[in-house]
Amino acid sequence: MPSPYSWPAISKIAYGGDYSPEQWPREVWREDVALMREAGVNMVSVGIFSWALIETAEGVFDFSWLDELLDLLHENGIAADLGTPTASPPAWFFAKYPEARVITRDGVTMGFGARGMASPSSPAYREAIVRYASRLAERYASHPAVVMWHVHNEYGVPVGEDYSPQSVRAWREWLKNRYSTLDGLNAAWGTAFWGQHYTDWEHVGAPAAAPSVVNPAQRLDFARFTDHQLRECFTLERDAIRAHGDQPITTNFMANQSWTTDLWAWAELVDIVSDDHYLWAADPEGEIGLAIAADLTRSVGRNKPWILMEHSTSAVNWQPRNIAKRPGEMARNSLAHVGRGADAVLFFQWRASRSGAEKFHSAMLPHAGTSSRVWKEVVQLGGALEKIDAIRGSRVQADVAILWDFESFWAQDLEWRPSEDITHAERIRAFYERLWRDNITIDFALPGHDLSAYKLVIAPAQYLLTAADAANLTRFVENGGTLLVSFFSAIVDENDAVHPGGYGAPLKDALGVTVDEFLPLREGEKSTVTWHDGSSLRADAWHEDLSLTTAQSVATYVDGPGALGGARPAITRNTYGAGTGWYLSTRLDADSLATVMADVYRDAGVVASDLPSGLEVITRHGDDARYTVAINHRDDNAQLPASGIELLTGETIAETLTVLPGGVAVVRSPHTAEGGGR
Ligand code: GAL
Repeated sequence: MPSPYSWPAISKIAYGGDYSPEQWPREVWREDVALMREAGVNMVSVGIFSWALIETAEGVFDFSWLDELLDLLHENGIAADLGTPTASPPAWFFAKYPEARVITRDGVTMGFGARGMASPSSPAYREAIVRYASRLAERYASHPAVVMWHVHNEYGVPVGEDYSPQSVRAWREWLKNRYSTLDGLNAAWGTAFWGQHYTDWEHVGAPAAAPSVVNPAQRLDFARFTDHQLRECFTLERDAIRAHGDQPITTNFMANQSWTTDLWAWAELVDIVSDDHYLWAADPEGEIGLAIAADLTRSVGRNKPWILMEHSTSAVNWQPRNIAKRPGEMARNSLAHVGRGADAVLFFQWRASRSGAEKFHSAMLPHAGTSSRVWKEVVQLGGALEKIDAIRGSRVQADVAILWDFESFWAQDLEWRPSEDITHAERIRAFYERLWRDNITIDFALPGHDLSAYKLVIAPAQYLLTAADAANLTRFVENGGTLLVSFFSAIVDENDAVHPGGYGAPLKDALGVTVDEFLPLREGEKSTVTWHDGSSLRADAWHEDLSLTTAQSVATYVDGPGALGGARPAITRNTYGAGTGWYLSTRLDADSLATVMADVYRDAGVVASDLPSGLEVITRHGDDARYTVAINHRDDNAQLPASGIELLTGETIAETLTVLPGGVAVVRSPHTAEGGGR
């Protein structure tokens, strides 16, 4: 049984990172702990890749160096987040169980010498991870340094799908469980198409590379199966640990960076949610992608404080161009995560590795040592986190939700879609970015969630929508909510089959419109849409031919395929029950989207901030105070109306706080009688 949600026994914002002392001689360990103390480090993650150095042969464990390390950490007041190294089995394991190696969709058997788990369906692998997790937990459950368990590392990457024979056997069992009968499977997969009808379970294979596009329903189920197998592996380890230790158990997610695992389901399995985030250097506004990841992490964790398990002090080493962080950027990134609900700021990694594939990755302690800029900023950040410690435990509240549904993304990502210009990641970023610039706080949600706390729900990319979830969204509108749906949504059901009644049919009551035909544009083609006040909006990539039932047209296509020889509706607004349903059938540029959103905000009663652009502000609400976290991405001063104490400087703010260029600030404002908790 998982323990109820719990925070590791650390009485501060957790600060530290992945620590790999096995790569260093003992004298370096002693220097490490001294420097950790200097930087204010209070927790490190250890053992994440140590399998081969602990279980030296099958069933033969040598814990001596880990004993020594955990004692050393404890003597120095540093807690341990103790990892199970099951993302990287030893050479002896693969030598003994070659059948446990993963086979890719193209039939390539994965070799050794990198990292990446064995087949999640391999009985030998499953037995080995349970043995390791049990022995580790048995030995260290009562070690005073161990405050948390870190199972595995980033499930789903670099190994997710596996096409090995043992995976195919497990897949057939999974399908039997899901469909009971072959008739059920044939119907769900639509196997009448292209002559794929099955007459024997033994003929059902994994959707490996084939002469043409493989059945999309089969591929969607394989994505579900893959996620299920990975979750089973996690659960096996978690339960093995729980039999001995009651510290919280986590595994590090990759929100907004990997889509293999359905984080909503995973968040139900862990005691505490943790996330790894790396800036995408090619994105000049990486802070927006960071904010998406942080908001998603908080949302899957049902809004409880969470752990930033990894980010980087400066450059990573695995992108085409690994851009170093600018002075102050590490602190801005860290505070942005804290503002969005993190109560822990950890890095990959403590000390830069001399050898191996990651030697050019930044670290808290870089190759250049303690005279480096990065080290000085690491020490400063440790001090800053101590000063804002009162923020711990406070919560973020949002009036707006954006739908984020992994199953829909898995389905949308399959082949032969109407236009390769349309992706869920791009649409979510476009809508999120508008709200981020308006400093409107966002939660992410599933379409089946209770949405009643939100004024506005946005569906930027809900390609797959079940009838039950559509009914939930319709009720949200009926009860007074504002729903904004972007094109290519409500197209298919859970089997990637088009909804009876056509595109958008499940939402026709809420939106008052359905889609007769998709009308994608050619690459680079632009078009104009006339807004209801006569102004022009700019669009590209996608138009649709709409059939309006109860909706009003508020913008029309005047050129491009959508005009169909005359002005035709492009954006619609519908009143349904006590609420409003908006539908956008085209891809607008950022300024045009801002025009539309101003009307949508008005309907929803949501207010955009009038702060200077580039001043990011998020509020956390505690029992007796609220905390305003301000991050100035500009290169000049930014003024923020605020009152209270700025925690980093201790300054009292009466009316206005000046946030320095590239600077951060956290203002604690005690609740007033009128202000209340929000
Ligand atoms: C993470 C991973 C770490 C390290 C890091 C480098 O995805 O969990 O082990 O490889 O990337 O950025």
